[in-house]
Amino acid sequence: MKQLNNILLLILIAMVTLACGSGDATAPTLDAPLALNATDITQNSFTAKWVGVANAKSYQIDVSTANNFSSFVDGFEAKSVSDVKLEVSSLDANTDYFYRVRAVNGETLSANSMTITTRTTIPEDVPLKEAAQSFFIGNVVQSNRMTGTHKEILNREYSSITAEYEMKMNIMYPYEGAYDWTRSDAIVDFAVTNNLNLHGHALIWHNSTPDWIENYTGTDAEFEAMLEDYVKTVVTRYKGKVKSWDVVNEAIEDGSGDYRNSVFYQRMGADYIAKCFKWAREADEDVLLFYNDYNLCDNGNKLTAVLNMIDGLTTGNVPINGLGFQMHISYNWPDRSDIEAAAQKVVDRKLKLHFSELDIRANPNNDLTSLSSARSLELKAKYKEIAEVYTAIPNDNKYALTIWGMKDNESWLLDFWGHIDWPLLYDSNFDEKDAYYGFLEGLMK
Ligand code: G3I
Repeated sequence: MKQLNNILLLILIAMVTLACGSGDATAPTLDAPLALNATDITQNSFTAKWVGVANAKSYQIDVSTANNFSSFVDGFEAKSVSDVKLEVSSLDANTDYFYRVRAVNGETLSANSMTITTRTTIPEDVPLKEAAQSFFIGNVVQSNRMTGTHKEILNREYSSITAEYEMKMNIMYPYEGAYDWTRSDAIVDFAVTNNLNLHGHALIWHNSTPDWIENYTGTDAEFEAMLEDYVKTVVTRYKGKVKSWDVVNEAIEDGSGDYRNSVFYQRMGADYIAKCFKWAREADEDVLLFYNDYNLCDNGNKLTAVLNMIDGLTTGNVPINGLGFQMHISYNWPDRSDIEAAAQKVVDRKLKLHFSELDIRANPNNDLTSLSSARSLELKAKYKEIAEVYTAIPNDNKYALTIWGMKDNESWLLDFWGHIDWPLLYDSNFDEKDAYYGFLEGLMK
């Protein structure tokens, strides 16, 4: 008898355990829903979708801008949904959103679905200069390209301009003692009239030195006096209108990292660089003073040489505010990580960084005779990448991101490399390319 009582007791304990262990023994089985990619994505909405599961009476959806759901979009925390889709609206443009769903039956909730990521689109009509956060978006001008569609696009999309060649020494100072301000004044007046920032390019550059200076017959002392007079005359003339100058452009050799053997170096030694920065500062106490060069963004030896030179200027209390990376690059070079590492070295020195002459070769190996859609998308991705890299640097180190040309057929690259290319944001008809929208997306990050 006693044995029977023990067996009955064990059965009773088992039943109670079973009932407690499974909570409600009548709870339905609820699998997690299969979340699907969003559809109908606009600049401020999308439709979340999922596959329903057996026994679900309804669903709950969470929407967040954080993939860990540490916060929720207003009204979308465990929001009850009777369907297997839901329009999520009143969202920010060009923003990543995350959602997940659960099945519901009475008090029972399933596990969460996987998390889906989606990004709202960019408003079609956001100009580049408005998409940029806290820095100028620039392009180049020539005095014969400041009307019509050039002017329309410059005023709509850009907040800064650089004279492509007409504010260089060979144009402004073609003969000893004889300045020609015709074209530089026209560009300065255009900037002032159109409320555009004006970056001065370039006071000293071995490739735009007038013949009379290349063949200068005076003494070294007379050469230095002439150069000081030139720098101070130009900077004084445009004080308050030119907001920044490339004081010296391309003073360092590519391979060796030595000083380029320009007439300035031959006549004054390496000290010409420091003296030109000091003269420019004496002429204008407010203008930003940059050193500008190319092939610096691949984080290579030339950057090291340039930074060593700049560190020397800084140690010598020479007034310098920033470094210009010209950014004449290709759709497949350099790597993002090299550009970011190079930019960081400028940030570490508390200098402003100007991406001063950005163009991106789509055809560096001349393997295309027309811009394929595949290469156009690769170019788009690179422009987006460069915009993202520049946008990511600290605001204190930002100045401008300047594109070196308006439309493909105007690019200097075509003559320089002698073959077709499509390196800019607009095609030869002034139509925005994929590259334009990639650049805009990167600025909107
Ligand atoms: O517009 C005139 C035309 O009227 C005249 O018939 C013709 C022949 O004399 O010259 C035309 O001007 C040329 C101008 O480009 C416009 O095409 C100039 O001679 C020529 O010297 C000028 O070349 C410029 C070059 O710098 C030299 O100043 C390029 O446009 C410009 O893109 C290039 O830019 C340089 C940066 O300043 C420094 N970084 C490298 C970059 C590329 O070389």
